[in-house]
Parts: sequence; structure tokens; C-alpha cells
Amino acid sequence: MSIWTPSSWREKPILQQPTYPNQDALNKVLGELKNYPPLVFAGEARTLKTQLGNVANGNAFLLQGGDCAESFSEFHADNIRDTFKAMMQMAVVMTYSGGLPVVKVGRMAGQFAKPRSSDTETFDGVELASYRGDIINGTEFTAQARIPDPERMIKAYNQASATQNLLRAFASGGLADLHKVHQWTLDFAHQGEVSKKYEKMAQDIENSLRFMEACGVNSKNYRTLRETDFYTSHEALLLPYEEAFTRKDSITGDWYDTSAHMLWIGDRTRQLDGAHVEYLKGVKNPIGVKAGPTMDPQDLVKLCNALNPENEAGRLNVIVRMGAGKVGGNKDGGGMPALIKAVEKEGLKVVWSCDPMHGNTIKSSNNYKTRPVDSILTEMKEFFQIHKAEGTHAGGVHLEMTGKNVTECIGGSFTVTEEDLSSRYHTHCDPRLNADQSLELAFLIADSLKEARK
Ligand code: PEP
Ligand code: CO
Repeated sequence: MSIWTPSSWREKPILQQPTYPNQDALNKVLGELKNYPPLVFAGEARTLKTQLGNVANGNAFLLQGGDCAESFSEFHADNIRDTFKAMMQMAVVMTYSGGLPVVKVGRMAGQFAKPRSSDTETFDGVELASYRGDIINGTEFTAQARIPDPERMIKAYNQASATQNLLRAFASGGLADLHKVHQWTLDFAHQGEVSKKYEKMAQDIENSLRFMEACGVNSKNYRTLRETDFYTSHEALLLPYEEAFTRKDSITGDWYDTSAHMLWIGDRTRQLDGAHVEYLKGVKNPIGVKAGPTMDPQDLVKLCNALNPENEAGRLNVIVRMGAGKVGGNKDGGGMPALIKAVEKEGLKVVWSCDPMHGNTIKSSNNYKTRPVDSILTEMKEFFQIHKAEGTHAGGVHLEMTGKNVTECIGGSFTVTEEDLSSRYHTHCDPRLNADQSLELAFLIADSLKEARK
């Protein structure tokens, strides 16, 4: 058996990587990154793993969300704050109405590299290399912008570091205090049914807090009322970057990827003998693997054994992204039920979560990449129904969302139409739910969690 090292992935076949024109420039940057401070600590990754263990055992729910792709141009404190607030709103809805603690993980502070379905893009007869995320090349449709530039990794690190710093401040500096439940409402939130429902719930929570205060329980003496744990995650796609942040924990002697608390493998790079699986085998962070419609149940079992050989609850998150109407399989089987049956048969412990975004992407008639909110809600409902039928825990949700008032997904209770898409379509990659649409989904999840516990 070959020995794992932070660079042993280099011996394996690898997909979805840029070709840097200048190897010396690349090596110089990687040498520099190796000396940069870690963004997270091993102990935090272990705490997250314990909390995800509670999810695997049916006692908590995972909310993972953020941009499809973070970008240099959208880097702003207000964007980070608003996504944080939107996730706090969703989490409090799920906890209060759904009755389970919520583990919060941002697709933030490092979610830059993107796998692409094609290596090139053609526009007006001109063919150029595809955009692969701001950590690799630029979105502008010019030959120059599309050349992979290693210096972008330094910029991405600096942005991730500032984002992580702000998230820590929000999580422990007062914004996450449960007494602020009213202030998590975003300025533009439409006064629709969903907002009213949230306002009513926030009022109930305030009343409960007042009662508890009278009993001597308050933010001063209870950390959990005053602060929250907010973790970070991204797709571990650009392996030279991840390798540079792979550090040995001085307490346990184990390797951790210190670029984020949690890392996942995308649906396009999950080959059992490939580089991405090799890399994540050796780091002790909690990890995820995406499972699209082509995931074979026996391959998933092999992936679980390779990535989680000790069958630790909380180590592995299977993120199912099949699409509405597909996740249940068909009359011959397949879909998520087949995956659940195979994993359960082997007694493997995983967190099951639902990514209702990536299987529901369509082109609008005016040529925008979009997602119908109805399909997203439908896949989420199907996810809960299937777990109920299989007797397993619907453990979490994985979303592309923002706290901004964007118009990227169509539908929702405050309807975004195809014509609206052009007004605030800001994503650098896939369409995200806006704050209203995310909150609507949170209420659906809360109802489903309540139902599942009956
Ligand atoms: C993503 O999460 O942005 C992504 C590319 O997902 P998937 O690997 O499931 O296609
Ligand atoms: Co995406």
C-alpha cells in the first residue's frame, strides 16, 4: 500500500486543473503559501466533526450555504454580513420550528475554484479557455484574462483570511446573539407571507428570552445565547493550493487542511483512484462528497470505505444533487434510495445532505442560467420523504445562496420572473437563492423536520 503524504495526490490521475504557463512562478507562489498562517485550527475542525457526528446520529441538522463562487469583485463586508444574517435567520427558523440544533457551515472564505463542464467557451465565434474561478483566472472574455495566474492564489488567500476574520467577529462579537433575532432581517426583505411568518416567530423567541431572563438565564451567563459556531468550507479542487495549507497538528500529530474547516469533493472529481480522493483521504477534517445521478451505489460504498475507513460519524457528508423528480430513482430503482440502501447495508455512518441546486439548473428563454425555486423546493421535499421511507435521517442542506436581493433563481413567494433575471444577476458562476427564497426554503425544511420527528 502506498503511503499518504500531502503531495501523494500528484501520483494520481487528476481532472479539472489549470495548466500554468510558468512553473517557476507557480512554485514560487506555492513556496510562499506554505509559510502563510493557517486560516483555521485543527481543534475547530475536530469540534465541527463532533457536531456533524450529532447530525449523522439524527440529533442535529446541517445548514451549508454561500456563493457558488466567491469573487474578487464582489468582496465586500456587506455581502459577507448579509449572507451570515440570512444563514442565521434560516438556522433559527429550523431550530425553533423544526426542533433540532443547526450546524452552520458557510461556502465562504475560500470557495473560489470551479470545475467546468467544458475546457473552452465559445462566444461570437471566438473560442477561449473556460473561466475556472477567481483563484485561477479572470471572467473577462479575453485571451489574457483566461491565462491561469498563480498570483491569484495569494489574493484569494488574503480575501479568505479577511472573510474568516469577519465571520469570527460576527459569530462571537454580538451579531449572533439570539436577542438580535429581529436584526437579522435584511433591509430589502419583502413584506410577503414569509417575512411575516419570520417576524411572528422572532416575537415569540423574544418573549421566551424575556421569560428566561427573569429566570436568570441571559446572554451574559450563557455563551450559547450570545455566540454561535460558524464554520467555513469549500470544494477542495485546486490541489496545489490545498497542499500548501496541509499542516501537521501539533497536538495529535495528524494532518489537517487548514484552508477551511470542511472540504468537499465535487461530482466531477470523485474518481476512487483519482487525485482528489487521494488528497482528502489523508486529512482529518470533516469532508463531503457530491453524489449526482451517475453515482453508482457500490462506488459510493467504496468511497465511504476509502474516505472514512474508521467509520467515524461526522467525518463524511454525502451531498446528494440529483434534481427534482430524479432523486427518488425510477421503477427500476436507482436514485438516492439505492444509495441509502447500499450504505445502510454496510452499516456505514454518513451525514446525508441535499444539494437541491445543481440538479435543477436550466437556461431561461432569455439565455440566463437559472433554477426554478419550485424545483428546488420539490427536490428538498422528496429528500425528506425518501429518508422517512428508508428510516434514515435527512441530515442537511447544501445551498448556493446569498443575503443579497439578487434575481438569479426564478419563482419563490415573492416571484422573480424570467424578465427580472437581468436586473440583479450578479453570480460569477451558478444562480443563487436570494434571502427571501432562502427563508422560504428554511420554513419548508422546518416543517419537514417537525414531520420527520412525529
Ligand atoms: C458546486 O457545488 O458549485 C458544484 C460544482 O457542484 P457539483 O460538484 O455537485 O457539480
Ligand atoms: Co455551483
